[in-house]
Amino acid sequence: MTTLDPSVFDPTRLSLSDLRHRRSLKWSAYGPELLPAWVAEMDFELAEPIRSMLRDVVDRSDLGYPPRAAATSVRESFARRMADRFSFSVDPDLVLVLSEVVQGIALAVDTLTEPGEGVLVQTPVYPPFLEVVRQAGRRLVETPLAEGPEGFGVDLEEFERVVRAERPAMLLLCHPHNPTGRSFTAAELAAVGRIAAEAGMVVVSDEIHADLVFDGRRHVPMAVAAPEVAPRCVTLSSASKAFNLAGLRCAVGAAGSAELLRRLEARPAHLRGGLSSPGMWATVVAWEECGDWLEGVVAYLQEGRDQVDRALAAMPGVSWHAPEATYLGWLDFSESGLGPDPAPWVEEHAGVVCSRGLDFGSPGAHHARLNFATSHDVLEAILERLASALRSKA
Ligand SMILES: Cc1ncc(COP(=O)(O)O)c(C=O)c1O
Repeated sequence: MTTLDPSVFDPTRLSLSDLRHRRSLKWSAYGPELLPAWVAEMDFELAEPIRSMLRDVVDRSDLGYPPRAAATSVRESFARRMADRFSFSVDPDLVLVLSEVVQGIALAVDTLTEPGEGVLVQTPVYPPFLEVVRQAGRRLVETPLAEGPEGFGVDLEEFERVVRAERPAMLLLCHPHNPTGRSFTAAELAAVGRIAAEAGMVVVSDEIHADLVFDGRRHVPMAVAAPEVAPRCVTLSSASKAFNLAGLRCAVGAAGSAELLRRLEARPAHLRGGLSSPGMWATVVAWEECGDWLEGVVAYLQEGRDQVDRALAAMPGVSWHAPEATYLGWLDFSESGLGPDPAPWVEEHAGVVCSRGLDFGSPGAHHARLNFATSHDVLEAILERLASALRSKA
């Protein structure tokens, strides 16, 4: 067990009743008979420096328009963080401040590809990747991640074959990968990047989960692993996953060149939407002052991951590859006889809400995604419910 300093991070402070009083999507969408383990929110208290900053904003009734300096601080803070944590050199002047990472994906697809052009995604994948491409009228080119005994990975031969055959203009990379929890290695990324660069593709790398990496691994940004792709890469990130700030709406997109930034900024600013000042302030506080809190969260999530791993090993009909990153687990129910869409059965019979695997693309059949970012007690209850439902079915 990791020793956590409860004055910095105390995962047990919020009771089930506190959580049920939350207004956010995860806890408000379902009734009290269900335990929600779906949308990617964490059930922990915010880091104290963020709470204190937000309290101060409220106490001063300080919710006027955001000053220009707020976005500048986000850009500079992001560049510092990338250099310090990932040896990734980012020019703050090439960073776009956005309200959300998915907005960044949509903007990149809209401005860096043409209608009808192909956009490559590695499925299963976070559903907005698929929605954005379809809604933009681009051609969705799917290449499934390969599953082996050790977990999911990129089948490079197949990836290259699809790139050559389909000539996609863009790769949408999810790294670390939601929902499989893979943290791709530098070698995998270098190979993917080389193929993409040779094919003249733009790479959009969603690295929102970069801070949530387990077992002492170090996240390697795509633009670092594959320098030849860096000038044609847009790296997207935010503090919203690692620090649980999704409702504050702030994200960043780092363009690999001035030309890419110019194209991303080509749409009228008002169509791109405004920014939230508390979101920008909280992002900077998270990145600059909440390192100890994050360390506690990652250690705790890793223990939760191990708790799920032990429990699944004893359950009939379900398995996973323990995630290397993220607080999301990709549960494989193919041995359970539940058919291609197990999540509704799990909800009805176990009282646990997971995300539906089929929403993540065709390899999502027979799967459901479990969010394990909750206290180990709530997690135990989730796992007991799941085990008991599967046992009574078996
Ligand atoms: C890979 C990935 N990208 C983006 C998002 C959402 O980010 P945002 O709310 O900033 O759009 C999530 C949320 O779970 C995610 O897992």
